[in-house]
Amino acid sequence: MLQIGALKLKNRLIMAPMAGITNPPFRLIAKRLGAGLVVTEMVSAVGLSRGHEKTVRYLNGFPEEKPLSVQIFGADPQIMAMAAEIVVQKGADLVDINMGCPARKVVKNGSGGALLRNPTAVRDMVMAVRKACTVPLTVKIRAGWSPDDANFLEIAGIIEDCGADAVTIHPRFVKQGFSGQADWRIIREVKRNLSIPVIGNGDVFKPELALQMREETGCDGVMVGRGAMGNPWIFRQILDLEKGLEARPPDLSERKTVILEHFALLSRVIGENRASKMMRGLLLGYTKGLPHSSSFRGSFTGINDFNTMISALDNYFGTLSRDRGLRVDSERERPGVGEL
Ligand SMILES: Cc1cc2nc3c(=O)[nH]c(=O)nc-3n(C[C@H](O)[C@H](O)[C@H](O)COP(=O)(O)O)c2cc1C
Repeated sequence: MLQIGALKLKNRLIMAPMAGITNPPFRLIAKRLGAGLVVTEMVSAVGLSRGHEKTVRYLNGFPEEKPLSVQIFGADPQIMAMAAEIVVQKGADLVDINMGCPARKVVKNGSGGALLRNPTAVRDMVMAVRKACTVPLTVKIRAGWSPDDANFLEIAGIIEDCGADAVTIHPRFVKQGFSGQADWRIIREVKRNLSIPVIGNGDVFKPELALQMREETGCDGVMVGRGAMGNPWIFRQILDLEKGLEARPPDLSERKTVILEHFALLSRVIGENRASKMMRGLLLGYTKGLPHSSSFRGSFTGINDFNTMISALDNYFGTLSRDRGLRVDSERERPGVGEL
């Protein structure tokens, strides 16, 4: 169990915020498969403060996802404070501040990872948001701007001093983007120096690595991002290992059911057309490593029609189950969205 401020999570596993990925359908699936906490994609504080409809829509979620953390990004402490108030009013159970995003359009405005270059700005922002925010507050950081400026201990200390309830550290530098390896020794350093919970993040691509990260760093929670893309079962698998059991991979039937659930939920939220386009990318992860998966994915090129995609999926899983002598339960093939 992990406690962040007054909030007790059911376990120590957190689904990382990922722009374009961790929308409500994906978060709901991760939650059902064991994540103790899910986080929205990063949401623009400026957009929220101006009431931009498209931005405000990022705050939507399914009741079953709760507790839900909403991640906000921005450069101005007062606008971030206003955004925090808005997201709490809209039902966020936690607020998370993004201080790690390396995307050029974010850092050029002094937001995301750019904040790490300016400890005073970090202090002003965390203080302002803390004052405005009535729910637990967390901050997600990287190791610093660049290896020459590895100021993670200073930044994490400021965040704790200003009253945040937990820190998440992804131990790469902003300038590194996603290259190289996450240096877990940095997580251990942060953990040793803080009293509030420290959540470790970076390169947990297999369930065993979550346990290894906790053992090597002493971190209180583990956040999984890319390792859950195409494999949301990773949360259940980590929980299995924590209980001393073998990690249960999904069988074909479960894999197909979850893909169809994901598709049905996406269609409900963004419409069949956009869901079909998005599913094409997601299927890459969901079918990775399965037999004939590249020719299956190739067969999707140019298909945007919901029913055609469902038939292609049916055919593919039908072939796989015949190949393996496994039955794919037709009762569970197409969950009605009403039951989701
Ligand atoms: C496609 C993508 C989008 C991301 N979007 C966000 C984001 O909105 N906010 C954030 O704090 N981190 C974001 N990240 C970073 C992840 O939250 C996480 O820190 C990073 O992927 C390292 O964890 P992993 O190795 O488990 O993936 C994103 C990463 C990816 C791959």
